[in-house]
Amino acid sequence: MKTLIPVITIDGPCGVGKSVLSKEIAKIFNWYSLDSGILYRIIALITFQFNIPILEEKILSVFSHELFLWCTQHPYNFQKLYEQNVPKIVCEKTISNISSKISVFPKIRKKLLQQQRSFKKQPGLIANGRDMGTIVFPDAHLKIFLEGSLSVRVQRRFNDLHKKGTNVDINDLHKDMYNRDLRDIQRTISPLIPAKDAIIIDSTNMNFENVLKITLKYIKNNVF
Ligand code: DC
Repeated sequence: MKTLIPVITIDGPCGVGKSVLSKEIAKIFNWYSLDSGILYRIIALITFQFNIPILEEKILSVFSHELFLWCTQHPYNFQKLYEQNVPKIVCEKTISNISSKISVFPKIRKKLLQQQRSFKKQPGLIANGRDMGTIVFPDAHLKIFLEGSLSVRVQRRFNDLHKKGTNVDINDLHKDMYNRDLRDIQRTISPLIPAKDAIIIDSTNMNFENVLKITLKYIKNNVF
C-alpha cells in the first residue's frame, strides 16, 4: 500500500549521479531530500577521527546510536556536518573507503533505519542510496534504479575531481570504485539490488539533462 506522504527513491552504484539528481528533483518540487550515504560517511568520519578499528562493529553501532539521537534533534544538518569536517579530498577518499567497509555491518544498518525513515515529511521526500527502494522505503511511490557502466562512472568522477583541482590516479580510482561496488552488491544485509518494482535507467550513454528529463517524466506519470 502506498503511503500518503509521497516518497521517490533513487538507488544505484557509487558515482552514478544519484545525489545530484536527487538534489535537483528536490529543488524542482521543493521536497525534502535524504542523501543516505552521508549517514554512513559521518560514522566513517567518527571512526577515522577517533582511530577506531573498522572491525569494531559494537563500538561503531554505539556511535550510530549517538548519531541517531543527534539526528532527531538536527535532522537536516548532515550534509553541512560532513562537508565542514571533510575539507580535503585525501580524507574524502579515505572516508569513502571506510564508509563502504562499515556499511556491511547489520547493527549499524539497523540503527540507521528508523533515522532514515524520519526524513519522510510533507510535501514529500526524495531519498537516494543503495537500499532506499528495497529496505528503507519499500512503499515508495516511485523507485528509480540508476545504472551506469563502471568505466563511465570512473571517468565522470575523475573529471569532477580534476575540475576541483584534485589529481588522482585514474587506475586507483577505478580500483576503489570497483571494490565499493562489490561490497555493496555482495553484502548479505541490504545489498545493492533494484527493487522488484523499480524503473531502471541506464545513464551510461546519457548526460545529466537527459537523465533528469526521463526521471521527471516518470515522476509526472507515477507520483502526481
Ligand atoms: O552514496 P555514498 O557514496 O556517499 O555512500 C557511502 C557509502 O555508504 C557507500 O560506499 C555504501 C554506503 N551506503 C549504503 O550502504 N547504503 C546506503 N543507503 C547509502 C550508502
